[in-house]
Amino acid sequence: MKHLLSIADLSTEEITSVLDTAVSMHEVQDRQVKKLPTLRGRTIINFFFEDSTRTRASFEIAGKWMSADTINLTGKGTSVSKGESLRDTAMTIAAMGVDMMIIRHPASGAPAQIADWVDCSIVNAGDGTHEHPSQALLDAYTMRRALGDLEGRHVGIVGDLTHSRVLRSNLLCLRALGARVTLVAPPTLMPSGIAGWAATDGFEVSYDLDEVLPQVDAVMMLRVQQERMSGGYFPTAKEYAVGYGLSARRLALLPEHAVICHPGPMNRGLEISADAADAARSLVLDQVSAGVAVRMSILYHLLAGEGDAQ
Ligand code: CP
Repeated sequence: MKHLLSIADLSTEEITSVLDTAVSMHEVQDRQVKKLPTLRGRTIINFFFEDSTRTRASFEIAGKWMSADTINLTGKGTSVSKGESLRDTAMTIAAMGVDMMIIRHPASGAPAQIADWVDCSIVNAGDGTHEHPSQALLDAYTMRRALGDLEGRHVGIVGDLTHSRVLRSNLLCLRALGARVTLVAPPTLMPSGIAGWAATDGFEVSYDLDEVLPQVDAVMMLRVQQERMSGGYFPTAKEYAVGYGLSARRLALLPEHAVICHPGPMNRGLEISADAADAARSLVLDQVSAGVAVRMSILYHLLAGEGDAQ
C-alpha cells in the first residue's frame, strides 16, 4: 500500500490486516509512555482544507506516538489563501522531503489528484462527498470489537446519505467484510440512482426506520450535513427527528445486543437523541478511541511496510 485514497483500492485481506494491526496499536493507549520508535525520522503533514476535530487530532496523535515528525497546515494559513494553486502548494510541500500528506478537502477527488502530482504517500482524510476511508476502517474495527466477526452481521446506516462520504467508504468496507447493509433515509436524502447501486453492490434500501431497527446488529446514524445543503431537504428539524432520528422510543426497538455508532460530529436532537448518544450500547467514544489505533495502523501499513508492528 502506498496511498489510502478509497476503500475500493483495498483487498479484503488488506482491510483485515489494517484492523488486526490496530489491535496491538490500541494497547499503546493504555501505556504510561505512549511511544513506539516505528516511524522515527519520517515526516507527516496533516493538510486540512476543511474543519475537523477527530480526524486531524487522531492522525496527529497517531504520528506522534509512532515517533514521526508531524506538522499541521490548514488552507487558511497557507499560500492557498493568496491564490496559489492546489498543485503548486502540494508540489511545494512535497519538495521539502515529506513522506506523507494527510489531506482533507471539500472537493471530491482532490487527494487522488494530488497523488498524481507528488511522490509521497497520500491519505484521504475525507474528500467532499466522495470517501472517508480511515473513518470506515475505524468504524469496522469498533463494530468488530463489540460484535465479533462482521461476516453476516446486519448494519443499518441511517441519515443524510446524499452528502455522506462516510456512507460510501462504510458501504465498501462492510460489504468487503461480509456484512449485510441496509440504508435508511428520507427520499430526499437518498442518493440518486440508489436502486441500481443497491443491485450492483448488494445492499438493501428502506425508507422505514421503525421496520429496520429490530433487525440490525448495529445502527450507524449519520450527521445531517446542513453546510452542504443548498435547498430544503426536509420541512423542519423536528419533522426530520420524528421521521429519522434515533429517539428514546426507537432505542427500545433495537435488539438487546445491538450497538449504536455515529462517526461524529453529532447533531444531538436531530439525527440522534441524547438518550441514544449516551446509552450504554453507544460506541461513539469507542469510535474516537479506535480512531487513534486504526490511524496508527494505517501509518504503519503505508510508511513502515511489512514486519513487526512493535
Ligand atoms: N468523523 C469525522 O470525520 O470527524 P471530524 O470532522 O471531526 O474529523
